[in-house]
Amino acid sequence: MHKDLQSIVLTEAQISAKVKEAALWLDKHFEGCDGVPLAVSVLKGSVMFFCDLVRAMQTPLQIDFMTVSSYGSSSESSGVPKIVMDLAASVKGRDVLLVEDIVDSGNTLLRMRELLVGRGAKSFTVVTLLDKPSRRVAPVQVDFSCFEVGNEFIVGYGLDYAQQYRTLPYIGILKREIYEK
Ligand code: IMP
Ligand code: MG
Repeated sequence: MHKDLQSIVLTEAQISAKVKEAALWLDKHFEGCDGVPLAVSVLKGSVMFFCDLVRAMQTPLQIDFMTVSSYGSSSESSGVPKIVMDLAASVKGRDVLLVEDIVDSGNTLLRMRELLVGRGAKSFTVVTLLDKPSRRVAPVQVDFSCFEVGNEFIVGYGLDYAQQYRTLPYIGILKREIYEK
């Protein structure tokens, strides 16, 4: 375990088993859809989950990326998600699969939904690796959530604190002294 972590909450094996479950659920969900859905990774946090998920799915997909920033370098959301890099593809008339790392306040997801549905997406499906329901502010709906987590600040498998710890293959709780110093 990384020295800055207090404990591990999700191991590589737990994550990998759940990603397969999510892939099966999504394959069923998209069965019989016409056209090729566009899978959108919300960068940077969802990148590890996204790569594992789309490779586990059987549904033919196109992929695209959008960078959204809500945190600056702190552990508190500013509440106003900013689009740092937009999609290359048009979503008009397409089935969109939005892949999130974590739904916390829900502000990022709400903004993404407004934006992509506003651009004419035919359908909007949301899959998230992690869900912190106790922190929800915005009224958002998630179609498939892999794990519910508590109020602790967690890192790893894409999730960061001040851009660090994203490359850890597991998810753990960051020691308080790291973000309180
Ligand atoms: P929301 O807009 O408040 O739902 O926040 C979504 C974004 O906040 C996520 O995509 C993450 O980048 C970040 N975030 C929320 N909670 C955590 C956490 O515990 N660790 C790391 N990043 C987090
Ligand atoms: Mg982040």
